[in-house]
Amino acid sequence: MSLNISAADLESKITAIFVKAGSLPAEAKQVASNLVMANLSGHDSHGVGMTPRYVDAILEGNLKPNSSVAIKVDTGMLLGLDGQQGFGQIVGVQAMELAFERVAQHGACIMSLASSHHLGRIGHYAEMAVAKGWVSLHFVSVASRPVVAPFGGGDGRFGTNPCCIGIPIGYGANASEPFVLDFATSRVAQGKMRVAYNKGEQVPDGYLIDEKGHPTNNPGVVVVPQSNGLFGALMTFGDHKGFGMAMACELLCGALTGGGTWHREADDKRAVLNGMLTMIIDPVRLGTQASFEKEALAFEDWLRQSPDAPGTEGVLLAGEPERKARADREQNGIWIDDATWAEIQASEAKLRNRH
Ligand SMILES: NC(=O)c1ccc[n+]([C@@H]2O[C@H](COP(=O)([O-])OP(=O)(O)OC[C@H]3O[C@@H](n4cnc5c(N)ncnc54)[C@H](O)[C@@H]3O)[C@@H](O)[C@H]2O)c1
Repeated sequence: MSLNISAADLESKITAIFVKAGSLPAEAKQVASNLVMANLSGHDSHGVGMTPRYVDAILEGNLKPNSSVAIKVDTGMLLGLDGQQGFGQIVGVQAMELAFERVAQHGACIMSLASSHHLGRIGHYAEMAVAKGWVSLHFVSVASRPVVAPFGGGDGRFGTNPCCIGIPIGYGANASEPFVLDFATSRVAQGKMRVAYNKGEQVPDGYLIDEKGHPTNNPGVVVVPQSNGLFGALMTFGDHKGFGMAMACELLCGALTGGGTWHREADDKRAVLNGMLTMIIDPVRLGTQASFEKEALAFEDWLRQSPDAPGTEGVLLAGEPERKARADREQNGIWIDDATWAEIQASEAKLRNRH
C-alpha cells in the first residue's frame, strides 16, 4: 500500500512539520523543497522519508534550525567553512553560493565544509554549479552510526560517504544534458535499505552482511537492531576500490575539513553530520572551453552509438535516470509507502506533544 501525492502538497506538508520543529518559514520551505526534489529525482532514500530523523535530531539538540554557515578561512580560491550543525539543505547551498563568488573572481574554488547536518542528495549541489557552466567535484563523509564495513571487515566502521561529479556537456545552442554522477560508496545507500525494509522487500546478493558478518538479503539488519542489539553492515561498491574511495572521503571530508572522522563505538544519536570537500572549475577560465565543449559532445555521441546490450534499456548517462524520474513524478505524483507516511505522521505528533 502506498499514497500518491503531488510535489506541491508534499512540500507544504513537510514545510509545516519543520516550522513546528522550530525553523523559520523560509528555512522550512527550502528544506522541504530539497527533500521533495530528491523524491522527484527517484531517490526516495534522500527524500521526505528523512523528515522523522531530522525531527529527532532537532529534538536531541544536534541539528540546529536557523543556523548559517560560518567562514573560518577565506584566501580567495580557498574557502574553509563550518556548517555549525545547521540544515545541510541551507548551509550547503550557502556554502556553494560563497564558492560561486570565488569562482567568478578566480576561475576556481576549493571549498571545505565541516559539521553540516545531512546535506541530502549531493547531486543537488553539483547541479547548482553545472547550471552555471562549471565543473563541480564533491567528496563527502558521514558521521552517524557507522553502517558500512571495510573490505575484508565484518562490521560497520564508517558511513556511506558519497562522491559526486557534475560536468556540463556542451554549451548554449549545442548543450546536451549535463553528466551528474552522484553515488554512495556503499553498494547501495543506507536510506534505500530503510525504504526496502519499510516495503517488506529483500535485496540482492552482495549488498549486506548481518550482525555476525555473514552475507544476507534482509535490509532490516541495517535498519533495526538484531541479536544482542547489534546491527549488520552494508558492503562497499566494487570491493576494495569502493572501500578506498570511502576511506578517501573520510580523510578528505572528516580529517581535512576539521569536522572529524568516525573512530568510536556506534551510538544511537539521530543526527547525521556531513563534511564535504568541493572543487569547482570554470572551463572558460581554464582556457579549454572550445575543446572541452567539442570533445565532451563527441564522447557522448560515441557512447550513445553503442548497441543496446540484450535485455537492457541501452546506454544511459549519469544524471539521466534522475531527469527521467523527475519528468514522470512531476506529471504522475510521488508514491510514498505506508510505513514511511506513518513515520512522518508520528514525527509530526511528537512535535504536537511538545508544545
Ligand atoms: N548526504 C549523505 O550523507 C549521503 C550519503 C550517501 C548517499 N547520499 C545520496 O544518496 C543518493 C543515492 O546514492 P546511491 O549510491 O544509492 O545512488 P545510485 O546507486 O542510484 O547511483 C546513482 C548514480 O548512478 C547514475 N546511474 C543510475 N543508473 C544508471 C545507469 N543505468 N547508467 C548510468 N548511470 C546510472 C545516476 O545518474 C547517479 O549519478 C545520492 O544522491 C547520494 O548523494 C547522500
